[in-house]
Amino acid sequence: MNPRIAKLRTYPFSRLAARLEGAHPPPHLSPINMHIGEPRHAPPANIAKLLGQGNGLGSYPVSIGTPALRHSCAQALTRRYSLEAGFINPDSMIVPVNGTREGLFSFVQATTGGKSDGVVVMPNPFYQIYEGAAILAGVEPYYLNTVEENNFLPNLTAVPDDVWARCEVLFLCNPGNPSGTFLSLNDWRAALVLAERFDFVIAADECYADIYREGMPPPGLLDVCREDNRADFSRCAVFHSLSKRSNVPGLRSGFIAADPQIVKPLRQYRDYHGCAMAQTVQDASISAWDDDTVPAENRRIYDQKYAAFSAILADHWGITTPPGAFYVWAKTPIDDREFVRGLYASQGVKLLPGQYLAREANGVNPGKNRVRVSLVPGLDECTDAAHRIVSYLNTLG
Ligand SMILES: Cc1ncc(COP(=O)(O)O)c(C=O)c1O
Repeated sequence: MNPRIAKLRTYPFSRLAARLEGAHPPPHLSPINMHIGEPRHAPPANIAKLLGQGNGLGSYPVSIGTPALRHSCAQALTRRYSLEAGFINPDSMIVPVNGTREGLFSFVQATTGGKSDGVVVMPNPFYQIYEGAAILAGVEPYYLNTVEENNFLPNLTAVPDDVWARCEVLFLCNPGNPSGTFLSLNDWRAALVLAERFDFVIAADECYADIYREGMPPPGLLDVCREDNRADFSRCAVFHSLSKRSNVPGLRSGFIAADPQIVKPLRQYRDYHGCAMAQTVQDASISAWDDDTVPAENRRIYDQKYAAFSAILADHWGITTPPGAFYVWAKTPIDDREFVRGLYASQGVKLLPGQYLAREANGVNPGKNRVRVSLVPGLDECTDAAHRIVSYLNTLG
């Protein structure tokens, strides 16, 4: 067996299932799942029809995707970041992926290994694939604790130069999961200065880029590239997904837009890895990337849910509405794992313990005594969940 597999941690949802074993919510309360970031608003109307057409089943798709799909992806970025026509070259800069999870994983395999003793630097808590991809690539994860005092943003100045010298990939997640906070243009610029000085790549996970409180889009890495005339997109890769934008986590569709120097070896890797997107999924994806009405409607509904959820909990739980994504990253009055089990057993509301999303670094687990609440159920269910959480908090005193 590959010895690196033994170094992987049990995935948070498996840990949650184990933690909830034997806990049975009262039979009169229907369970409410808010532990997973799985969007449940309506997907684009024509997706099912396009998938049903079954185009391309008689041919092998190619891993670079069709020109039509790459064009659609480039156009979606051009609209989202107000780029000039031609800023994103779909032929040299776009790599379709079967969900960004798969893209993030393959990206690390293709971009690391060039430095002896390499590290992948990531925020902590973090999307678990960053770490697993680094471990399986044989490079060490290096964690940057993102804590309240720092507005849940990674403090790049706290990293010693000898770590930056070993860095091959820096992951930044914007809006952040689980905090929903934004990096500023100057945060991105600071990362770019380091990337140039120490010769590494920035992997900007922007899969929540279209989910923000209305009127306040998060500044992305492409905003900096536009403003600073970095047309070569040197050392940059951005990851975008249809899962959150268009409510189709089951479609498995996203893309990477990157510096052509990064794209070349990545495509070579992916040819061998065997991860070409099925033609039917490409057809459905084109239609979803071309449609900005679904993310706009998402923003309207998430805003409504945040307002309702926060209003009910305002006097009971010190929660804040984040600028982006669809989570609440809330403090717990007791151990987060106990809180999650107790809430589930008494009220049937399932949340994710914060410490499962983070690692202990510098002596602390920055997810400890926090929970992630995912506002993916409908408005009525989110409202019901808020009342049930109040009842549970009251029992804790
Ligand atoms: C921060 C972050 N990145 C990437 C992903 C992967 O999304 P997908 O593979 O559906 O594109 C997720 C999913 O929850 C996520 O939260």
